[in-house]
Amino acid sequence: MDRTKTPRLALTRLFPPDVMARARRDYAVVAENTDDVPVDGPRVLAMAAEADAILCAAGDPMGEATIVALPASVRAIATFSVGTDHLALAAAKARGIAVTNTPDVLTEATAETTMLLLLGAARRAAEGERMVREGRWTGWTPTQLMGLQVSGKKLGILGMGRIGRAVARMAHGFLMEVHYHNRTRLAPELEQGAIYHSDASSMLSAIDMLALTAPGGASLANWLNAERISLMREGVVVVNSGRGSLVDDNALIAALHTGHVAAAGLDVFANEPRLDPRYRECVNTFLLPHLGSATVEARNAMGFRALDNLDAVFAGKEPPDRVA
Ligand code: DGY
Repeated sequence: MDRTKTPRLALTRLFPPDVMARARRDYAVVAENTDDVPVDGPRVLAMAAEADAILCAAGDPMGEATIVALPASVRAIATFSVGTDHLALAAAKARGIAVTNTPDVLTEATAETTMLLLLGAARRAAEGERMVREGRWTGWTPTQLMGLQVSGKKLGILGMGRIGRAVARMAHGFLMEVHYHNRTRLAPELEQGAIYHSDASSMLSAIDMLALTAPGGASLANWLNAERISLMREGVVVVNSGRGSLVDDNALIAALHTGHVAAAGLDVFANEPRLDPRYRECVNTFLLPHLGSATVEARNAMGFRALDNLDAVFAGKEPPDRVA
């Protein structure tokens, strides 16, 4: 990198220490978020006032209103996420701002979280943990906190992308029969024996457990609605490590109350972090604070991948993970 023209970078979040160190080594960091609290649109604009690039993260307000108001100096936005639903990609493209994401590097971590949700929800881990922590455990009993066994069950996956396929691989270790619904069928080497359903209804009626791993987006908004829930068998377990927007919260909460959905494991929510408070009141939910990719390994790799993309832009090359 030409040190005489060090690109100026705005960091909307406090990133992992090794990522911050590399960003400071290779860029002139002109704005950063030392409080580590989520930023609003005006703050992003203030941070970007003297920047050539922005390193942002999932959930940042990078919608159309922000993108159109960015200064002309901004040539690139790298998001520290695989998801891009917080970014107005068309608006960025229209302004010629390169936008990149961080695919691949968080696949295993997010698939692990999906399995954690599945096990935590099906095996009533949150109830058990609260019982022990709150000193309410009076000892082992034959009927205490009986959950549902995951092993050998039929798992449906919505979104057989990288993360969905990693979940399928892990689920095979639990001897689960994997079903999936995608717009298009995968090649056999990617399918890994999973059963394809071109029609979501056919998958939903075949499964015992459902994992939502799709990245969200307008076409899948409220995908898990009352009608689709009713197609699944009584006592189904539902987990979501994709995006909160995939779920119609009213429908899922109603089904958690009737027991049609026996348990839900949720790592993502609509309007994070202000999730629908009724989820907290459901005894049969296992709730995590969007920590799908939260491992040291994945978070460092995400930061390095984001910086690799910015390095490419400022070296005059096509960034490998360009999404706009
Ligand atoms: C992503 O990368 O999109 C996640 O949701 C954050 O880990």
